[in-house]
Amino acid sequence: MKGIILAGGSGTRLHPVTRAISKQLMPVYDKPMVYYPLAVLMLAGIREVLTISTPHDLPLFKKLLGDGDDLGIRIEYAEQAAPNGLAEAFIIGRDFIDADSVCLVLGDNIFHGSGLAKMLQREVDHASGATLFGYRVKDPQRYGVAVFNDGAQDGQLVAVEEKPAQPKSNLAITGLYMYDNEVVDIAAKLQPSPRGELEITDLNNHYIKRGKAKLVDLGRGMAWLDTGTHDSLMEASQYVQVLESRTGVQIACLEEIAWRMGYIDDAKLLAAAAKLGKSSYGEYVKKLALEAKAMER
Ligand code: DAU
Repeated sequence: MKGIILAGGSGTRLHPVTRAISKQLMPVYDKPMVYYPLAVLMLAGIREVLTISTPHDLPLFKKLLGDGDDLGIRIEYAEQAAPNGLAEAFIIGRDFIDADSVCLVLGDNIFHGSGLAKMLQREVDHASGATLFGYRVKDPQRYGVAVFNDGAQDGQLVAVEEKPAQPKSNLAITGLYMYDNEVVDIAAKLQPSPRGELEITDLNNHYIKRGKAKLVDLGRGMAWLDTGTHDSLMEASQYVQVLESRTGVQIACLEEIAWRMGYIDDAKLLAAAAKLGKSSYGEYVKKLALEAKAMER
């Protein structure tokens, strides 16, 4: 399975903060926002990643993430000329996806929780059709929302509604999606919605109608954090700060994930640590690398 990070958009909801720089490059506590969705793909076992952003921001993502070699993965880049909708990722990414299945993660979505990596790897292994990931929220009208056949929370998924005024459940569809290769053709045939976007929700309903969609409830043990407003962005930073300072363990440290997943060896971890310098993030990677070295002896 290949991975796509969609990190474009206009970011107007966070203006003036995002007037000059992409939202997904903003810090969430001690690292850029895009690290968190990239961590999700890496934890899922995905090592080929396409980052899509605006023509203005794409060079900044390249500068930040490079070609992925330091992480033992491959990162490619593509422009989205205008924010034409989430489903355009599969049109832009057509050649990259080639004959493979694909996981799309939105560059502003943060997932964290115990068992996340195992759950992701299980879904990659069993992926067919579309796999959607739901999360219970108190304000579902802000998201794509699951509709179940019996009106209850546990029935069969019959549709997804995009930002409904009267949500039929409180299960929001998160910005993490897995699809079979057919997604490329389905996306190519989509028509823009009344708001002029190629909607991921239309794509998902296409799969649901044909009985080819599965909804995984992330459950209450998992955190799906919002970064859509100044307050929620601050809260996401606080969440990361509280957990990291309490446990001493980093959330979404890409070098650590690469090393634990076996994408890079001890020597490469040490080299990465040397490049990172004296930040707390760099010190953390350095400590890991030195511990690994000591264990070798
Ligand atoms: O976060 C999950 C939600 O994401 C889902 O529940 C919704 O069903 C889905 O439509 C989407 O809702 P948003 O209101 O968050 O969509 P937004 O237009 O804000 O775009 C999400 C991110 O994707 C945002 O960081 C900007 C980026 N984006 C957006 C568009 C429309 C792009 O990179 N390109 C685009 O064309």
